[in-house]
Amino acid sequence: MTPVVEVSGLYKSYPARRNMLGRVVETTDAVRDVGFTIEPGTTLGIVGETGAGKSTVGRLVLRLIEADSGTVSMFGEDVRALSAPQLRSLRRRAQMIFQDPFSSLDPRMVIRDVVGEPFTIHHGLRGEERDHRVLELLERVGMRADHLDRYPREFSGGQLQRIAIARALATDPDFIVCDEPVAALDVSIQAQVLNLLLDLQAERGISYLFISHDLSLVRFLAHRVAVMQRGEIVEMGDAEELFAEPRHPYTKALVAAIPTARPRRERARGVALPTGLVPADPSRNGVVSC
Ligand SMILES: Nc1ncnc2c1ncn2[C@@H]1O[C@H](COP(=O)(O)OP(=O)(O)O)[C@@H](O)[C@H]1O
Ligand SMILES: [Mg+2]
Repeated sequence: MTPVVEVSGLYKSYPARRNMLGRVVETTDAVRDVGFTIEPGTTLGIVGETGAGKSTVGRLVLRLIEADSGTVSMFGEDVRALSAPQLRSLRRRAQMIFQDPFSSLDPRMVIRDVVGEPFTIHHGLRGEERDHRVLELLERVGMRADHLDRYPREFSGGQLQRIAIARALATDPDFIVCDEPVAALDVSIQAQVLNLLLDLQAERGISYLFISHDLSLVRFLAHRVAVMQRGEIVEMGDAEELFAEPRHPYTKALVAAIPTARPRRERARGVALPTGLVPADPSRNGVVSC
C-alpha cells in the first residue's frame, strides 16, 4: 500500500538575527535532515521538548510553510511540486488540529457555520442538507443540536477541541496532523479527546501525525514514534520497542521521566494509565506494526 506520507531529507531554517540593514546574519536550523513514513491507518508520534522542531515538521508536511530542501509526498504525490489548485484538493484529504482551539476557530462564526463551512467550500452544500451533515458530525464528536447556534466563546476548551475535530472531519480526511491537540486541556478532558481520536481512526482509517512534548500521550496513541531534539530525529521506531528499549540517551531520559510507566501488557488488561487515560478499544493495545 502507498504510504500516506513519506518525508525525506527535510531541512528548514528560520532567520534568527538580522543586522541593521535587515540582512539575515544568523539562522536557526529548525528542522535538519528529517525523514519518516506514515502507513495508512496508523499514527506516527513526534515527541520532543519545546523548540525541537515538531510544529515546523507538521507544517512542512502540509506545505503550510515551504521547506529549504527535502521531499514530502502525500498519498504518493510530491507535495512540493503541486500547483495551488492541486494543493487545495490535497488539503481536503489532509487536515490539521492545533493546540489552541480558541484561536483556531473564527470567534464570529456560530458552530453551525464553523463546522458547515468546509461542506460549502468543498461540496457546495447549503441549508438543510448542510445542517444535516453538520449535526451528524457534531453528534459524532459528542456535541448536540442545541450547540449549533452558539459561538466559540460559549464553550470549554474540551468542547472547542471537539468542534475543531468535527470541522476537520467535514472534508472526510485520510490524514490529520494533530499538533499538541490536548496540551491546553485539563487532564480529565485530555483522555476524552484522545479516545475520540482513537475511535475515529478505528472507524475511518485516518492516519495521524501526532505531535506532543508529552511522551505518555504519544505512548497512548502512536504506533511508531520519532524522538526529536534540536531539529533532528535522534531515534525512531515501533512504539512498543522504543518504550521497552530506548537507545538514545535523550529517549532514555524521556522514558525514565514518565511518572509511573507501565508496560503495555498491563494496559491490555484495562489498567488505567498514570494520567487517567483508558484506551477506548482494548484490542488496540496489541502491537500494530507499520
Ligand atoms: N516563524 C518562525 N520564525 C522564526 N523562528 C521560528 C519560527 N517558528 C519556529 N521557529 C524556531 O524554530 C525552532 C523550532 O520551533 P517549533 O517547530 O515551533 O518547535 P516545537 O513545535 O517542537 O516546539 C525553534 O527554535 C523556534 O524558535
Ligand atoms: Mg510546537
